Amino acid sequence: MHHPSPHPSRPETWTWREGARPLVVAHRGASALAPENTLAAFRLALEGGAAAVECDVHLSADGAPVVIHDARVDRTTSGTGQVASLTLDELRRLDAGAWFGPAFAGERVPTLGEVVGVCAGRGRLFVELKVGGGPPLVDAALQAVSAAATDVAVISFDPEIVQLVARRRPDLPLGWLLTAGHAAQLGAAGVLRAVTTAGAGFIAPHFSAATPPLIEQAHAAGLPVSVWTVDDPGTMVDLVAAGVDAITTNRPDVALRALPR
Ligand code: G3P
Ligand code: CA
Repeated sequence: MHHPSPHPSRPETWTWREGARPLVVAHRGASALAPENTLAAFRLALEGGAAAVECDVHLSADGAPVVIHDARVDRTTSGTGQVASLTLDELRRLDAGAWFGPAFAGERVPTLGEVVGVCAGRGRLFVELKVGGGPPLVDAALQAVSAAATDVAVISFDPEIVQLVARRRPDLPLGWLLTAGHAAQLGAAGVLRAVTTAGAGFIAPHFSAATPPLIEQAHAAGLPVSVWTVDDPGTMVDLVAAGVDAITTNRPDVALRALPR
């Protein structure tokens, strides 16, 4: 399945598969082997051969798009408090690696621009815009990726964000994230209607919701299917047999071994 990428600095076509292998997307970087959403985790994934990395984006108190999963800094840094209550300077003083292991002490909460820089010339970037960020998050994130020398896809659980991105950057691959519960509630036909209405170009369900009928109907509607988050190699193989186009995983090393081209 192909998605044209008309950005002049990105002449290549967005390809979901390399031979029989779907796109392998390293979830928060190689997050089983390095602290999630740090430059170390993104570098490790890309050096190991992952085609793409996924990152999570929130806004700092002063409006900078920063790469961290939770709305609070407590779990993955040396600090405490809401990301949205801390300035970029305050966030940059936190250690985002020591919690994972002493070898990663000194890793910082990256900006989205820094992650774009690490991916340039090495791999693609899935940018997840976190729920509730509204137009300020969309504006800041799109600004940060506007000159990216790498292929960028945007994903979100938030329908308002999906609609905003679809309007602002119709050229970007754009995926709507669905929990298993939400997918079950909508049903396959409802998922496709909602995704198309929101203006997304692919669906990104939890892997347990990627049933053969959903995959078939999505493909019939021209929508690739990008699943998250799969770390078990047997499940990866089954999902590829069912036709998924991308697999997001904390273990890109496992995926690359389990899924030959
Ligand atoms: O790639 C989608 C996946 O990252 C969504 O869930 O909570 O890991 O951001 P979460
Ligand atoms: Ca995510």
